[in-house]
Amino acid sequence: MIQSNQDNEAASALNDAMADEEEIIIEQTLRPQALSEYVGQDGIKNNLNIIIQAAKQRGEILEHLMFYGPPGLGKTTLAFIVAKEMGGNIKVTSGPAIERAGDLASLLTNLSEGDVLFIDEIHRLNKAVEEVLYPAMEDHVLDIVLGKGPGARSIRMELPKFTLIGATTRIGLISSPLRDRFGATYRLEYYPEEDLEKIIRRSSKILNAPIDREAAAELSKRSRFTPRIANRLLKRVRDFAQVRGHATINQNTAAEALKLLEIDSQGLDKNDRRILETLIHKFSGNPVGLSTLAAATGEEEDTITDLYEPFLIRLGLIAKTPKGRQATEAAYRHLDVTPPINNQQKTLL
Ligand SMILES: Nc1ncnc2c1ncn2[C@@H]1O[C@H](COP(=O)(O)OP(=O)(O)OP(=O)(O)O)[C@@H](O)[C@H]1O
Ligand SMILES: [Mg+2]
Repeated sequence: MIQSNQDNEAASALNDAMADEEEIIIEQTLRPQALSEYVGQDGIKNNLNIIIQAAKQRGEILEHLMFYGPPGLGKTTLAFIVAKEMGGNIKVTSGPAIERAGDLASLLTNLSEGDVLFIDEIHRLNKAVEEVLYPAMEDHVLDIVLGKGPGARSIRMELPKFTLIGATTRIGLISSPLRDRFGATYRLEYYPEEDLEKIIRRSSKILNAPIDREAAAELSKRSRFTPRIANRLLKRVRDFAQVRGHATINQNTAAEALKLLEIDSQGLDKNDRRILETLIHKFSGNPVGLSTLAAATGEEEDTITDLYEPFLIRLGLIAKTPKGRQATEAAYRHLDVTPPINNQQKTLL
């Protein structure tokens, strides 16, 4: 049967949506529920443990917290854990979802004492909404303006005492008045391989997909230092093992599946490689500005800065120079391309 292009597009959109939905379900089942199950980030965990215990002992609510760092490192997970450890409910929203001041007002007035209000992508709150948030965070009050013009007056409403938890991948975009109103700000770090291995082994038990040590180590090496990717790879490799009739995921299965997924020895996928290739081939290894790179690769600027770039910089494959992003010598080596002499000199500077 010949399908029209439109049908194909619809089918592929549906597939994507189903894959997304499945991914969300898996992500939720694999999400640690307590600080003790949360792997790594020891500094943050120790600190949270103390402030949680202290607040509980005093019978107070927890101060407002901010988590920041690249996608998939466990910010949302921590927010849920904190709410649970404090014994309150969590209401989840995001910066772009709160369009008007009134939307925030209704969220705030519906909270109960001790609840956590989690605002994901908090860097995307608009100014009017942010201004409602300041007195709410500071004094647990809501200022409502009635009327307009010279006759307008403002009334003040008490709010239940709540803890705001903000999460962002872009701390630099948070205004300083907002940043100053958080009691503590935590930066999540990329995970070392040992931690990713623990996460993979924990997830393999939950998913009932046995994996041996070597395979777990192999996956953790290629997980972009990110738990979400580690879990995603495990899930893909599990499918592969199942189809091949392997009861346990071993290194061979893992290597074959990763090859099929086009994930290379350092965990780069096609998109990462496309960025490096663009820098090397299209721009002859010269520094490239963000908007130019985005246009040349067909990616959003935000996706490059949030997702690809931190990882490629961390691997030492991209350098950020005052003139733009540049592929390093290691990138040439990784792609097996001979660096031009002058470029070699430039990147060595
Ligand atoms: N420390 C951890 N230990 C075990 N699993 C983790 C840990 N951190 C994250 N995960 C797993 O990775 C998944 C992604 O984490 P999470 O959704 O919390 O990331 P995030 O930082 O909120 O990402 P985003 O910026 O995209 O919102 C979780 O579902 C969880 O299964
Ligand atoms: Mg999140």
